[in-house]
This record gives sequence, structure tokens and C-alpha cells, in this order.
Amino acid sequence: MQLILLFVSVYLLQISSASKAEFVTCGTILKLVNTDLKLRLHSHDVKYGSGSGQQSVTAVDVSDDNNSHWLVKPIMGETCKRGAPIKCNTNIRLQHVSTKKNLHSHYFSSPLSGNQEVSCYGDDDGEGDSGDNWTVVCNNDYWRRDTPVKLKHVDTAVYLAGSGRTFGRPISGQGEIVGVSSQYGTYTDWQAKEGLFIHPGDLLPHQNAIHTEL
Ligand SMILES: *[C@@H]1O[C@H](CO)[C@@H](O)[C@H](O)[C@H]1NC(C)=O
Ligand SMILES: *[C@@H]1O[C@H](CO)[C@@H](O)[C@H](O)[C@H]1NC(C)=O
Repeated sequence: MQLILLFVSVYLLQISSASKAEFVTCGTILKLVNTDLKLRLHSHDVKYGSGSGQQSVTAVDVSDDNNSHWLVKPIMGETCKRGAPIKCNTNIRLQHVSTKKNLHSHYFSSPLSGNQEVSCYGDDDGEGDSGDNWTVVCNNDYWRRDTPVKLKHVDTAVYLAGSGRTFGRPISGQGEIVGVSSQYGTYTDWQAKEGLFIHPGDLLPHQNAIHTEL
């Protein structure tokens, strides 16, 4: 009984400290919701049957899905301080937590709508290439949790977007994720949700998921 109470209070402590955080920080693990489509950015060990043949990135409507967690990391060769708020217009990488691959794009055609393909790429240590760099586009000082941002692909200048199209089997019902050339296009707004938001000095409850360079 005492043990249960201890667990409950530790849990409540974590929730209350999380709700105080206003910003997405270096080392945060979050879900990203497309605010128009109400779908969460997702990946899984399913390869595209067309285009690059790399690991597919889709969008799902469930909130408790364990393949929709992304770790906010610095770009290769840079560091960021764990818990430091991410400034607007910073280049980052987003690592898919369960497969360790990075959100990636390149000049391939997306499978359903013929926009630019978005995939997950990299080796088992999460090292990919320059196609993994994304700029956090926002108008405040920092990437705020309560305000949607856009994610602009550094190499090709497209914006991460949903296409509004939906896959059939074997991933039926999941939405297509693409890069589009205009930030004013539809479905380019992404908001942070359901995260483990790291603050300076926090303990590391998911240490194994966090890359050492953080
Ligand atoms: C993630 O979810 C799937 C299906 O819902 C389940 O089979 C799998 O065991 C889960 N993995 C983890 C690490 O929780
Ligand atoms: C992007 O990433 C690569 C390697 O991952 C890095 O060497 C390069 O400097 C980055 N470039 C920019 C403009 O962010």
C-alpha cells in the first residue's frame, strides 16, 4: 500500500512539473499533432513500396500509440543543453524513438499525392545525413508548447505537411505525410502534445532513449 502511494505521488509530481513547462526543449520526447487534420506524426517498421523504399512516415488519429514519439535532438555536429528551450528558426533533428531513425526528406515522390516524400532514415545509432535537418519555424522567441510551429526541411526547403490522403492496406486509415513547397499550403501546422518535456536539471526517467550528445 505504501509502495502504491509512493508511485502515485511520484507520478503526480511528474505531471505537475510537466504542466509548468511552456517550451519544447532539447531532449524533449513529444508527439506532434497536425492541428488541421488532428493526426499525430507516426512511423513504424514498414517500408514504402515506392519512391525511396525507406521507412514510411504516416499520421494516425490515436493518442496512445507508442510509435508516435519523437525526440528533439540537435543536428549532427552540434550540441544543445538538455532542457534548454529551442529558439525559433533553430535547425534540429527529430528522432523516432522506437526505431531510432530520423525524420527525413529528399527528392522522391510521395506514394499517394505525388508531393515530396518524407521518410525515416539513419543507422541504429540514429546517424543519418543532411536530409535529417529541419528548421523550427515560429514567430515567438522560442518553440512554445501551446502554439503550432512549421517544420521546414533544410536541404529542399519544403514544409512538413499532411496531404489529406489516406493509405489502404497494410496501414489502412493512416494519413500520408509529405513535404510541400508553400508554408501557406494546408496542413502544415504542428503542435507539441503528450510529451516528456525536459527542464534544466531534470532527472532522466527515459535515459536509455536519450542520445548521449544531449
Ligand atoms: C506498442 O504497441 C503495440 C501495439 O499496440 C504493441 O504490440 C507493442 O508491444 C507496444 N510496444 C511497446 C514498447 O509498448
Ligand atoms: C545538416 O546535417 C549534416 C549531417 O547530418 C551536417 O553535417 C550539416 O552541417 C547540416 N547542415 C545544415 C545546414 O544544417
